[in-house]
Amino acid sequence: MSDRLFIFDTTLRDGEQVPGCQLNTVEKIQVAKQLELLGVDVIEAGFPISSPGDFHSVIEISKAVTWPTICALTRAVQKDIDVAADALKFAKHKRIHTGIGTSDEHIKYKFNSNREEIIERAVAAVKYAKKYVEDVEFYAEDAGRTDNEYLARVIEAVVKAGATVVNIPDTTGYCLPSEYGEKIKYLMEHVDGIHNAVISTHCHNDLGMATANTMAGVLNGARQVEVTINGIGERAGNTSLEEVAMILKCHKHIGIDTNINTQKIYPTSRMVSSLMNMPVQPNKAIVGRNAFAHSSGIHQDGVLKNVQTYEIIDPHDVGIDDNSIVLTARSGRAALKNRLHVLGIDLPQDKLDKVYEDFLKLADKKKDINDDDILLLAGADRSQNHRIKVDYLQVTSGVGVHSVASLGLSIAGEKFEDCASGNGPVDAAIKALKKIINRQMTLKEFTIQAISKGSDDMGKVHMQVEYDGHVYYGFGANTDIIAASVEAYVDCINKFKLD
Ligand code: KIV
Ligand code: ZN
Repeated sequence: MSDRLFIFDTTLRDGEQVPGCQLNTVEKIQVAKQLELLGVDVIEAGFPISSPGDFHSVIEISKAVTWPTICALTRAVQKDIDVAADALKFAKHKRIHTGIGTSDEHIKYKFNSNREEIIERAVAAVKYAKKYVEDVEFYAEDAGRTDNEYLARVIEAVVKAGATVVNIPDTTGYCLPSEYGEKIKYLMEHVDGIHNAVISTHCHNDLGMATANTMAGVLNGARQVEVTINGIGERAGNTSLEEVAMILKCHKHIGIDTNINTQKIYPTSRMVSSLMNMPVQPNKAIVGRNAFAHSSGIHQDGVLKNVQTYEIIDPHDVGIDDNSIVLTARSGRAALKNRLHVLGIDLPQDKLDKVYEDFLKLADKKKDINDDDILLLAGADRSQNHRIKVDYLQVTSGVGVHSVASLGLSIAGEKFEDCASGNGPVDAAIKALKKIINRQMTLKEFTIQAISKGSDDMGKVHMQVEYDGHVYYGFGANTDIIAASVEAYVDCINKFKLD
């Protein structure tokens, strides 16, 4: 009989707090519903006290999702817990996730406190959360660098106070797998009453060991893992959901099952990447573009003879379907609707009509429309409510000539235009844009995503622009890379906090 491992997804909390990955409430609901289809047990929907947007999203996700538990994060602070309980009021199954730093570094520098006081605050927070909900998870922040003896005292105290789950985060991604596994084992063996709670892992990837540490935790007794889609999260990210799910599927002898429907992994990965404008590295395990591509002659020869020579996972098991790039200008609305459905997106008729219209325009410019394009088109109406929009852009460029751009913008409905020259077409277009906007802003980062499938493919641009002491993230996608660059810059400007 297999043991059951609970999957706690924090894409919408730890993942979403990454700069540039912010989603609006409608997009968060879309991801939450996809996570439900994927089969996760717990969705960490946000940190409600952190912003009215997070508070509202937790409410709306609670209404939209049926069976997974909805979890809200708090500090060990009464006001945080009050707000989280309020945000969870519509959840069918709810959990408050409260906690405090337990490493000496956190106790001394963050709280200017001492070990005994931290235990008191931890216990008080758990007891306070218990007044609202039965299911209370406690996190010992920076547990990875907390000494095991003290950590065991903290965990014993919070379990006694009623914590149902105890989270042991390797917040800084510091631990070796052997150390992290030992830590979980130590808690299993030294905490009185540990069997009244589930131990959870929460590993960060600063040294590239998040998945290895998570597995070490599981092999030593943890029965919940905190993970994100595509491994997104603070700094180098969190443990990837898809990696843990597929490790357990491939290594059946471990005897631990999850509720994940692995065929939903790839569509979920694409959806999160597209909505968050966060590309997946091509060699990313399980969901990267090259994860199943055999390039060397020896490998190709082996795979042609028998796929088992070099493939340990059947791509169909993670939902990669070979027919994924066949939409063209001749594809009908039904084919588009079906492809969107496979990618986890079901649009109402009016939205579908609009996406189909845009799809036909794009199909005029490029032959094959791939899943990335479709996801971009489905998300395109995000810019529809923007105050500033690009009306037209004309650029001259070439060898031995100076680039000149003329640009037309519509700002809150009013038309503006200007032109500028530059040392290249992007430089000229951005100078024209700056002449119209006329504010002190600096381009900090500019990434053009490599074109993958032919010269007619969409170019994707990620940008960071500094304005008034803040850095804003923008994204643009267009078959014309200069237009994509201007769109990305305009996306940043639309996010500026203006007085
Ligand atoms: O990494 C961490 O310690 C966290 C906690 C807030 C759970 O994200
Ligand atoms: Zn974290």
